[in-house]
Amino acid sequence: MKKRSTADIRQTFLDFFQQKRHTLVASSTLVPPHDPSLLFTNAGMNQFKEFFLGLAKSPYGCAVTVQRCLRAGGKHNDLEQVGHTARHHTFFEMLGNFSFGDYFKREAISFAWELLTSDRWFGLPKEQLWITVYDSDEESYAIWADDIGVPTARIIRIGDNQGAPYASDNFWQMGETGPCGPCTEIFYDHGADIAGGPPGSLTADGDRFVEIWNLVFMQFNRQQAGTLQPLPTPCVDTGLGLERLAAVLQGVCSNYDTDIFQALQREIAAVIQIQDQQQPAVRIIADHLRASAFLMADGVTPSNEGRGYVLRRIIRRAIRYGQKLGAPAPFFYQLLDPLITIMGDVAVEVAQQRTVIAQRLKSEEQQFTQTLQHASALLAEQLALLTGNTFSGEAAFELYDTYGLPLDLTIEICREHNVVVDQVGFDQAMAAQRQRAKGSSQFTVDHQPIIQVEPPSLFCGYEALEIRSEVVGLWCQGERVERIHAGETAIVFLKQTPFYATAGGQIGDHGQLTAPDKRFEVRDTQRYGVAIGHSGCLLSGQLSIGDIIDAQVDSVKRQATALNHSATHLLHAALRQLLGDQVMQKGSLVTAEYLRLDFSGSEPLCLEQRVQVEQLVNDQIRQNHLIQTETMSLAEAKAQGALAFFEEKYGDQVRLLTMGNFSKELCGGTHARRTGDIGLFHLLSESGVAAGVRRIEALTGATALQQWQQQQQHLLQLSALVKARSGQQLVNKVQALLHNQQQLSKRVEQLQENLALQSINQLINSANIIKDVNIIVSLIKNSEVKTLKVIVDELKQRLGTAIILLATVVKGRVHFIAGVTPNLTPRITATELMDEVVLRVSGKGGGRPELAQGAGSDVSAVATALAAATAWVTTQL
Ligand code: ALA
Repeated sequence: MKKRSTADIRQTFLDFFQQKRHTLVASSTLVPPHDPSLLFTNAGMNQFKEFFLGLAKSPYGCAVTVQRCLRAGGKHNDLEQVGHTARHHTFFEMLGNFSFGDYFKREAISFAWELLTSDRWFGLPKEQLWITVYDSDEESYAIWADDIGVPTARIIRIGDNQGAPYASDNFWQMGETGPCGPCTEIFYDHGADIAGGPPGSLTADGDRFVEIWNLVFMQFNRQQAGTLQPLPTPCVDTGLGLERLAAVLQGVCSNYDTDIFQALQREIAAVIQIQDQQQPAVRIIADHLRASAFLMADGVTPSNEGRGYVLRRIIRRAIRYGQKLGAPAPFFYQLLDPLITIMGDVAVEVAQQRTVIAQRLKSEEQQFTQTLQHASALLAEQLALLTGNTFSGEAAFELYDTYGLPLDLTIEICREHNVVVDQVGFDQAMAAQRQRAKGSSQFTVDHQPIIQVEPPSLFCGYEALEIRSEVVGLWCQGERVERIHAGETAIVFLKQTPFYATAGGQIGDHGQLTAPDKRFEVRDTQRYGVAIGHSGCLLSGQLSIGDIIDAQVDSVKRQATALNHSATHLLHAALRQLLGDQVMQKGSLVTAEYLRLDFSGSEPLCLEQRVQVEQLVNDQIRQNHLIQTETMSLAEAKAQGALAFFEEKYGDQVRLLTMGNFSKELCGGTHARRTGDIGLFHLLSESGVAAGVRRIEALTGATALQQWQQQQQHLLQLSALVKARSGQQLVNKVQALLHNQQQLSKRVEQLQENLALQSINQLINSANIIKDVNIIVSLIKNSEVKTLKVIVDELKQRLGTAIILLATVVKGRVHFIAGVTPNLTPRITATELMDEVVLRVSGKGGGRPELAQGAGSDVSAVATALAAATAWVTTQL
């Protein structure tokens, strides 16, 4: 057996299956596109789900991939195990081969055996490999025993060992619903010096026998109700954990001892400045670093819900472990560059977005440090008051909901105090809050059954806006129905449709479906798997499956949307030209009204850059390029320099959209015919939306013109007001007005000061002299705080031995200045005097022994406050 690097193993796997005529397919993103049933990509088969279900035809008979996966949250969740076992990760790479009705059990098993054991390939010792099969899968058992020749002592049958039919270690399913089937697994025995028993034994959880390859024979589609529906053709889905295989082939027992993890852990120890890079906390940080970076590269940002929340938990868990090791804050982002170098080619997307990801990680850590301090203090207080050793779920939920302390951290902190958290109570509090949130939305549809039931729809909306079609599916209140009646809201499916379904930032079409006696108003169009659903309301008549209707897209809205979509591409290209190729689109919204483009960048655009962007886009509009689309393979499109985005799912064939030499992007959206149709591009605003993400909003066509005309009106009105005859004159005049106003304000201040100084003599005359000390307490009308200070200083100078307290009311608040001459401060200080007075006006104050300042909101109490201050001073002397 040859010792191989992780990179070599990855490549060897791909080479082997390509030699066996498998098509190489790229990893899909960690965010599964168009699949609401799945939080994250958790297996290589996810991107082929529609092929397994028979909803779409695969362009290849069999395929091979290296798929990035994440198992944190959702059905497959390994978060808690990470760092505490030798083989669990949140993020990992899954090697897989797939057959879509091409080969089945015999070939799948032979391929796996050959690759693992042949000396030409990985050359693992056969006697260290163990096999499990699903109890009733005689066919697989016989292939292993008779064809391959594995001794039956090392073939273990596993039945429904998880308490329900088909709930078994050897029956794999993607999620609560979807493709599933029996599986056979290959285990590697790390040897007797590691604890743990063979699969199926009571000690199977140990690290000695490690599952390395799972061969799933996809035969069913699991329904919401738990029933299994046979798939049209049996398929094969396999998954071989790259990190586990690397451990085996590098002769180590833990994934964390392989080349990639050791290198990462070395870097982590260096940044945290610790010696021991093998401890669990360092492993957890290594694992979480990979998960965070790859999730962010695939477009997830930390937030308080859904995917963003899982990401936030992972980042925060890593940071907390770092802090426990004494890491200098912020430390986590410093690990990004080493990660990119160590992961090499598979981290290209991370490398492309390194600046934005690093910035976001840094600010996440800064924010979390603050949250943690605050929430931990609260939790500590609550723990101190706790009787018993259970921490209430509701309190844990409040710490999460109000202060952002993730549940797992509350659990960990409680565990350090031997306290357990009532997690059921937490879940209940969370569910109650979700219910409250749901109450405000009237439209909830369970997408999952729809995705699995509806056949593919034919989209013909690039060429036509109006066609005759047939109703093939109707969904009302989450149920499939045969007919709907006037007044009902529903989702309608057609055999073919000109309606564009929301995708790539462009919103779904509106319009209507009509027949002589019926009218359904389409208010939104969405994709459900491979089907296109038109949601809206039946305004008149009845609509039944099989009805023939005229489907008409609202052409005005569609055209306005098309202009905004084409302009979004021009804007994106213009930004890259102006700011550099590191600018990446981070999201977009294209509606009939306006367009919005989010892109990576941390600095606001200056005025000049905004003008330049607008000019660049409008130049291209005037060049009136033909907007061309062409269908080709992804590889070909990339070779032509096309820009592709993470949030899009690209099939084998992609649509390349070109505008002159200026913009080339993959896009499935609907566009203008020529750039000239856009007419005018008007940049409305540029702002920051999150750390490292800027947002531009803009208008096109008639809306841009209207906006421009309105601004023109405002300018004319302003010019008339200041009697300016040109734009330049308007600017000059407004500048002059502002300058004048400043001068006037200064003059008013001076005059007030003069007046105040004149009042100094009166104040001196009014002084109360007690035990040779001049005491002056007075309310000065119409004065600024600054002026009071000048007066107090002047009085101190002139009187030599004095205690002064002056008050003034400015904008509904009362302000005080207190002064005490230095010779008196051993007996009485200005700050003490201020404390006495501000408490009577609901205010605050502070300063030095000779001079203090304060203010309060209770203006009506000024007189009493001043009288009380005088009385207090008298008692102090
Ligand atoms: N889909 C199978 C798994 O993830 C291969 O284990």
